[in-house]
Amino acid sequence: MVTASAPGKVYLFGEHAVVYGEPAVPCAIELRAEVTVTQREDGLRVQANDLSLDGFTVEYDGDASGRPDIDVSDSLVDAAMGYVNEAIAQVEDAAGVEDAGFEVQIDSEIPLGAGLGSSAAVAVAAIDAGTRELGVELAPEEIAERAYRVENEVQDGQASRADTFCSAMGGAVRVEGEDCRQIGTPDLPFVIGYDGGAGDTGALVAGVRELREEYGFAADTVEAIGDIVRCGEQALADGDVAELGQLMNFNHGLLSALGVSSRSLDAMVWAARNAGADGAKLTGAGGGGCIVALDDSPETITALEYTPGCEQALRAELDAEGVHTEG
Ligand code: MEV
Repeated sequence: MVTASAPGKVYLFGEHAVVYGEPAVPCAIELRAEVTVTQREDGLRVQANDLSLDGFTVEYDGDASGRPDIDVSDSLVDAAMGYVNEAIAQVEDAAGVEDAGFEVQIDSEIPLGAGLGSSAAVAVAAIDAGTRELGVELAPEEIAERAYRVENEVQDGQASRADTFCSAMGGAVRVEGEDCRQIGTPDLPFVIGYDGGAGDTGALVAGVRELREEYGFAADTVEAIGDIVRCGEQALADGDVAELGQLMNFNHGLLSALGVSSRSLDAMVWAARNAGADGAKLTGAGGGGCIVALDDSPETITALEYTPGCEQALRAELDAEGVHTEG
């Protein structure tokens, strides 16, 4: 039995545009997914706890009829299980075995489909735990690459390396196509607002692709997000938090123009700004889920807690630790 954990992330800048080769800067946060893998005779049995911040338990052995009632949509659970299936395929490929049997236990603090990189963290931790259980030790870079293949498979060939590289390596990273590296950042105080909902990453990415193909100005919008990221990198290097906040606001506006924000995300973004945050934007695929604000004052958390549509507000520290084994 091997247990590994990997962090979730927030995007400082660049989600969606990163799918089209623009740079992005995600930052790992101290909410982690823990995956325990144990070899068994045959077949795959998955047990998942606390896949949302509120928490629920689902046991899944490939037979959907046995699934208990839960408070997130079945399609989300199916998507989560799709990531686990593909991660196990990567484990078998890395270890050079076929049809190994596994018991997989997931304990995650990261809400599903909420823009905090739950699927990437589960894929990364599952690959690390699964390969170690078979006696193979992979470098974090290889775990990141294999977890990227998992996301790409589940998201119909429309994934970037950003979420998976960030989760495997920890800290703040810069991803542009296949060029992935860790970067230094000043101490960034993040607050997360969570609407209790989730977006369908595949559908949201497909929606942006359609807009981009139909309208030249949507393609320009994607490129403009890349320009924001490049300016953001300079602001990071200068430690200019006010400039970072302004660029985050701009980034949110462009994501909104691409149709991936929602009423509750916009409401939380404005509540955080009005409470004095340096900047705020949605994080991840959008459609629902989380916003990230640059500020750690109690006023911002309280303002979010009183915002209609906000279920939870929490402080999030940068997590320098990528994937590692537990215990
Ligand atoms: C999802 O967390 C981030 C997206 O940019 C998709 C991806 O990069 O694979 C929307």
